[in-house]
Amino acid sequence: MNIKESIESVRKSFRADSDPFPNDSQAVDDLRVKYLGRKGLVANLFSKMKDVSANDRPMAGKLLNDIKQEISYVIDSHIDSSKSDKSGKNESDYSLPGLTFPVGHVHPLQQTMDDIKSIFMNIGFSVAYGPEIDDDFHNFSALNFPPEHPARDMQDTFFIDPETVLRTHTSNVQIHLMEEKDPPLRYIIPGRVYRNEAISFKSYCLFHQVEGLYVDKFVSFADQKGILEYFVKRMFGSETKMRFRPSFFPFTEPSAEVDIWSEKRGQWLEILGCGMVDPEVFKSVDIDSDIWHGFAFGMGIERICMLKYGIDDIRLLYQGDMRFLEQF
Ligand code: DAH
Repeated sequence: MNIKESIESVRKSFRADSDPFPNDSQAVDDLRVKYLGRKGLVANLFSKMKDVSANDRPMAGKLLNDIKQEISYVIDSHIDSSKSDKSGKNESDYSLPGLTFPVGHVHPLQQTMDDIKSIFMNIGFSVAYGPEIDDDFHNFSALNFPPEHPARDMQDTFFIDPETVLRTHTSNVQIHLMEEKDPPLRYIIPGRVYRNEAISFKSYCLFHQVEGLYVDKFVSFADQKGILEYFVKRMFGSETKMRFRPSFFPFTEPSAEVDIWSEKRGQWLEILGCGMVDPEVFKSVDIDSDIWHGFAFGMGIERICMLKYGIDDIRLLYQGDMRFLEQF
């Protein structure tokens, strides 16, 4: 038998031994030792190389390497697939969960702001913005705050200098709008406001408001009620119970606050302030209050957001904690 025939006979014998492939591990070890062991059939073939003529050696070397590879491959691949079969995992397990990618979220405050804007824009309001750093005139005097009003007190207001403040409400933009534009006016004004208050679960040193201003020739408190009722039902649901409660603001007369009924807490919760624009305010911006009338309202966005989503600590809205934000 020449070397070529010897190799073919080993191959035949291996194919017979490995089909079917043994399924207990002792038999697999025996198979490996029989063919690939130090004294196995393949090693025996290699030892015959010394008898091969120099001419045939390259061809015989290649055939020997091929059979060694073939046998190793067959044994190894059976071992790999039997392992993965046992653990239930292999490359094509279609029941594995897909890869997920991190996705961004609209912040609940921004969501609330967007909702409020779209409700008012649907009924013809435009959106305006104004300065967060403003003078005493726009934040206080023109809004009919008397000089000794407590809101000017250091307790509540961040003063930059005696004449300049971080606005304490978005009502300052009412004055800017009426200075810059002739009526009729129909605007909402979202924005950030600042107050020097102790930080707690219910107050933060900055927060957001949406202001509303409607000025026209024939405007009454009934128009104001209709619009705010529409807003509350769109924002909190058509079954929401609400009430107007008399109140006081220097820049509106008469003034009111709007409460909504919370079934969960069993109490009325204040959501906004409103009223008819005080003639003194019109006077400070040179609008003739015998011709023009108007109403204004203002609401805290954090408060509305917290009521809507059942959030009980305002600080959660400012901490950027993904465990909180991911819920929205
Ligand atoms: N500026 C008030 C505040 O910060 C809210 C407010 C009340 C705004 C009545 C108004 C209004 O426009 O008419 O508490």
